[in-house]
Amino acid sequence: MSSILYGKDILQTDTMSDQQLELILSTAARLEDELEARGQLDNMKGLVLATLFFEPSTRTRLSFETAMLRLGGQVITVADPKTSSAAKGESLADSVRTVEGYADVIAIRHPRKGSAQEAADAVNIPVINGGDGAGQHPTQALLDIYTIQKEKGSLSGLTVALAGDLKNGRTVHSLVYLLARFNARLFFVSPPQLSMPAEITTELREAGADITVTDDLTLAARQSDVLYMTRIQRERFDDPAEYEKLKGSYVLDMGVIRQAKPGITIMHPLPRVDEIKTEVDAYEGAAYFRQAANGVPIRMALLTLVTGRE
Ligand code: NCD
Repeated sequence: MSSILYGKDILQTDTMSDQQLELILSTAARLEDELEARGQLDNMKGLVLATLFFEPSTRTRLSFETAMLRLGGQVITVADPKTSSAAKGESLADSVRTVEGYADVIAIRHPRKGSAQEAADAVNIPVINGGDGAGQHPTQALLDIYTIQKEKGSLSGLTVALAGDLKNGRTVHSLVYLLARFNARLFFVSPPQLSMPAEITTELREAGADITVTDDLTLAARQSDVLYMTRIQRERFDDPAEYEKLKGSYVLDMGVIRQAKPGITIMHPLPRVDEIKTEVDAYEGAAYFRQAANGVPIRMALLTLVTGRE
């Protein structure tokens, strides 16, 4: 019997069912243990993953590819759009339709919001969204939830602060929908110009979420179990002067951590620019590199579930 995710696309978190979420988290934990025990798995033997990345990436693409290789599958990639026919003006739909002839599953990142959906509409193989512009980044949100569960032992009863560029940061757009399901109390910390899109805040509040909007990082850190920092998304600004004005909005250092709730867990999807001082890396609650490593089990789970190889 194949799973409830067999043949499905992974495009966004707001429409994911509780059952799908539970299945992804439990499959990731199981595959992580199996990989640890056996060193190499063969679930994806004979299958090909295409990673199509039309925007820069280190963690997302490489952890998808590592996941596929650890599972015994193979990978073809476009890591630089300048080397693909997109540079000749080929449409996204035509590119993915072509790749459908070569691969069994596609992971895609593209600067246009809605692009992953467009790609999914054009093909019959599963498409996984690795970030569509300032839209969503569901696989990151899943690994974030997986990380919180591991770091904190449970997902219930937590207060989580999200800080930085909440307007343009796709990771937080996906993450808040998942946090809300676990009834987390949320702090949205940003300068007013970079606040969470109103439609997301309104939708979550209407569904009963407890959200405090503030620009005060220390105030939020004092009350939070987890602080999720984000980068000011330079590439989404039309006006470079506006970026220059906002780029240093929040800098997390040990001074802030000393005033925060004891034991606070610090997360960041990475890359960081200057929003977390390197002095924080030695703090035991600094989880961001462990978080990046958790991308592998989560993406192993997604690849196996959508292809029926779990
Ligand atoms: C994020 C992204 O690409 O949205 N990075 C990632 O996937 N880990 C965050 C960012 O670029 O700021």
